[in-house]
Amino acid sequence: MVKIEQVVGIRVITLDEVDSTNEYAKSIVREVPEGTVVVAKRQTAGRGRKGRSWTSPEGGLWLSVILKPPKVDPRLVFVGALAVVDTLADFGIASGIKWPNDVWAGGKKIAGVLTEGKVGEYTILGVGLNVNNPIPEELRETATAMVNFTGVKLPLERVLERLLFHLDGWYRVLKERPEIMMAKVRERTFILGRVVRVVEDDDVLIGRAVDVLDDGSLLLDIGGQLRRVLYGDVSLRFF
Ligand code: ATP
Ligand code: BTN
Repeated sequence: MVKIEQVVGIRVITLDEVDSTNEYAKSIVREVPEGTVVVAKRQTAGRGRKGRSWTSPEGGLWLSVILKPPKVDPRLVFVGALAVVDTLADFGIASGIKWPNDVWAGGKKIAGVLTEGKVGEYTILGVGLNVNNPIPEELRETATAMVNFTGVKLPLERVLERLLFHLDGWYRVLKERPEIMMAKVRERTFILGRVVRVVEDDDVLIGRAVDVLDDGSLLLDIGGQLRRVLYGDVSLRFF
């Protein structure tokens, strides 16, 4: 029998409060092995992409995984997104990926993934998943939490355990069979077939999302012309 070595979650550092688990993870990256996870009960300065703030009160899962892949791979964001989708399914919640870094359930955002890295050194895979935490009034139109589907609070430890299990699994699949991971991303990306608006620097593109390519980019059909959109500082809305 082949023994599979666990990577994600071999060490878990639990904090009561931190500014951002991604920042904390960066500060210890050289002292800890790959797969170390930093999880905090609450973040005082949780961040989304483009420096947007990420609301992180007690009751949610706010964590960062320290990865040391041989080279920076933009597809690492999908390891986080797929692991969240699988974790939600374990608790009976159907969800899908809003390419590239969000997970949506019941028409609202339930989780976000933020990858940050230094070429040749590390990638921090940050995952924020709303579990039992209250959603602030101003986000209620667009955001939701697991408890809104289950009606009862979930054991956070159990959700964490499932999430780490799936993160570890998808990280392995990315390293060994990336095409299998990308096939699953395609299957889970709910914006495919829909009209989307992508803002890329100063460029605004409106077209139909037709595919996620093996390199992780999104293929848009703009009036019959195909255009690839790379994962980066893009903003996407769907209709
Ligand atoms: P895009 O990047 O395509 O514009 P987005 O609006 O989801 O999509 P992100 O940078 O991915 O933007 O996510 C950050 C946004 O998520 C914040 O601006 C805020 O609106 C929202 N947000 C903040 N905290 C939470 C939370 N706990 N749950 C859900 N959404 C949140
Ligand atoms: C997004 O949707 O833009 C990504 C949100 C990522 C939030 C997580 S919570 C844990 C980690 N620490 C942070 O400051 N951000 C990520």
